[in-house]
Amino acid sequence: MNRRDALGVLGAAALPATFLRATQEQAPAKADYALRIGPVSLELAPKRIVKTTGYSGSSPGPLLRMREGQNVSIDVINETDSPNLVHWHGLFAPSVMDGSMEEGTPMVPARSQRRYSFAATPAGTRWYHTHVSAGRNMKRGTYTGEFGFIYVEPRGDAGSYDQEIFLALKEWDPYMTMAGEDAGLDAAYKYFSINDRALGHGEPVRVKEGQRVLFRILNASATMHRRIGLGGHEFQVAAMDGNPVPVQKKTDALELGPAERIDAIVEMNRPGVWVLGDSNDHDRENGMGIVVEYPNQTGAPRWISPSDRWDYTAFGSAANTTATTEEPERLPLVFEKKFAGSRWVDKWTVNGKEFPKTDPIRVRANRRYRLVFDNRSDEAHPVHLHRHTFELTKVEGRATSGVRKDVVVVNPKSQVEVALVANNPGLTLFHCHQQMHMDYGFMCLMEYV
Ligand code: C2O
Ligand code: CU
Repeated sequence: MNRRDALGVLGAAALPATFLRATQEQAPAKADYALRIGPVSLELAPKRIVKTTGYSGSSPGPLLRMREGQNVSIDVINETDSPNLVHWHGLFAPSVMDGSMEEGTPMVPARSQRRYSFAATPAGTRWYHTHVSAGRNMKRGTYTGEFGFIYVEPRGDAGSYDQEIFLALKEWDPYMTMAGEDAGLDAAYKYFSINDRALGHGEPVRVKEGQRVLFRILNASATMHRRIGLGGHEFQVAAMDGNPVPVQKKTDALELGPAERIDAIVEMNRPGVWVLGDSNDHDRENGMGIVVEYPNQTGAPRWISPSDRWDYTAFGSAANTTATTEEPERLPLVFEKKFAGSRWVDKWTVNGKEFPKTDPIRVRANRRYRLVFDNRSDEAHPVHLHRHTFELTKVEGRATSGVRKDVVVVNPKSQVEVALVANNPGLTLFHCHQQMHMDYGFMCLMEYV
């Protein structure tokens, strides 16, 4: 964007002096991508209109496709009245570019813009989303439509398939509700969709018999866990959180906590009109689904509830591929809830403390660690480490290897252990991706010493 364009978009009065100086002196080349943060209006179904904020007029925002290793630049133009920032989830961006205030990334001021740049790595299905906290304001953070897919094309073989379909699972119009006797306030939603359409109201996914269709599925929810089926078909899981899995097992159910991604191939071998959707009847019937249609088939789309149990270790190898002579240092992280009353939001602690009082996880560059997630609460937590990939080593007592992720769901009263190589120095945020948990204490920093 040249200076005149920038002024046209923003209005000269709104520009901070530093921005003007930067644009005049460096006359920067056009960025590879631009994302405008601003209002969006989605018509999920006739008369079912959602007004929220999103990127470049849509939600999900534009799919950003990049090549592995490519240096990318993205101008984020904040057309709203509050400061914001964008996090590149699953990428190894430097702390100052990662899109987390806690790591030291500067905000994009209101009515201003900022350029992010980083190398596109690792390959696979990534995503971007706002990283502001919401608290009790459900018009902020991941309750909004501020998210989109990033796909980093691998240098090597990307696999073989006939069609590639990106599906983002999302709820809309959130509100606070009382969750029960011994739980605090929780988020609930009025509407549901896959991408920007409610079930039955968008274009169906059109398939042909014998095709291999690759679904790249993202749970873009602020708070909800999802269990997905595709009537009468099986998913062959190829990657989790963008990383290829060692065992491409078939299953009729996919489960995704907030922020998780699954790439799965479906062999289209059962002609008909089907529903791909969430197994919760209420949420699916209110929009959380999409029709999958074979040619010359008629009738109402059919839903069949999936039955397989979801288990991360089914996609891992038994053998430990990262065997080292030395036992890696164990870093325990205990997650607990502090119930504050049924009319209040629960608080969360990591090793007994709430963010920002939490103790940092201290690591040394290039050392190996075992992060031991110990969930002592009665809720599942999709915990996420920024700027790194970890490998599952033990899930609820079962040893595994080769499943590499950046989010892992730790079930109620359960433990998960992951191997981490501290290979990307810089402040790094660790948190639960459930927006309400993260905003109420469930967060800490990882520091390189
Ligand atoms: Cu997907 Cu800290 O975020
Ligand atoms: Cu949580």
